[in-house]
Amino acid sequence: MTTKTLLCCVLYVISHVTEATLTIGAFNIQRMSRNKIGHVDFLKHVAEILLRYDIVSIEEVMDTTAIHAVLDEVNRLGGPYSLTISEAMGRTSYKEHLAIIYRSDKVTLRGAVRYPDPDDDFEREPYSAHFHTTQTHLTDFALMGVHLKPSDVFAEMNALVDAYNYATKVLGTQNFIIAGDYNADCRYLSNTKYHLNNLYTDDRFDFLVDKAADTTASHNTDCAYDRFIATGLVKPAVVSGSVLVYNFETGMHLSYEEARNISDHYPIQMQLQ
Ligand SMILES: *[C@@H]1O[C@H](CO)[C@@H](O)[C@H](O)[C@H]1NC(C)=O
Repeated sequence: MTTKTLLCCVLYVISHVTEATLTIGAFNIQRMSRNKIGHVDFLKHVAEILLRYDIVSIEEVMDTTAIHAVLDEVNRLGGPYSLTISEAMGRTSYKEHLAIIYRSDKVTLRGAVRYPDPDDDFEREPYSAHFHTTQTHLTDFALMGVHLKPSDVFAEMNALVDAYNYATKVLGTQNFIIAGDYNADCRYLSNTKYHLNNLYTDDRFDFLVDKAADTTASHNTDCAYDRFIATGLVKPAVVSGSVLVYNFETGMHLSYEEARNISDHYPIQMQLQ
């Protein structure tokens, strides 16, 4: 090998390392239950979507059997992935878990915490997982999964400031991606209330998904329910242009009915560097 070709390869390796990214997703997999995973192609389609992400927060997990079946399927097709999951949450008999699935060969889980919610502000308390990685310049950050209650979006968004402050203290980092289904649009949150919200007015929080985005899988709705918020050192680490909504109906060449059988939401995604 000549010095010149060696130099080329060394430079390639260096640029390759510095350009490494992590892809983060958030996906509300509508009422994902033991029953639903038995539907034709459901597991295959969901696993194909989740394999796009190195870390993904999942909402509406109705039982642990369902999420373990999904985890087994993603590990059969790719991976390795591991899981951290909240307990079942909700004030009535209807309960959901928040799950976070992550590539265990790319990130290390340092800890996870559910907001204790002393004033009972949340139907489902935010659940945060703290990660360490050597893949990206940003080596230390947390993903907080949220699924806000449609009829209480404004109050729950205000309370997210407290949930964030709590999680930063317990986990020891201020670098957060707060991700999931905020229901923060259309009939659940007016434009005025969006702009009055404590999350919006506090400049520690950057909203990454545009209010004009459509994160719903129905052809009859156009709502930006699902969002990412970046804080701390996550803000400068977001790859420019990487925040998007993944339309799996067109992306995976599915029929409208097949797509609707997966969820009423599309996942959102972003890259960190
Ligand atoms: C959608 O799900 C329903 C209920 O499980 C099933 O009967 C139907 O065949 C599914 N449709 C497609 C196109 O997969």
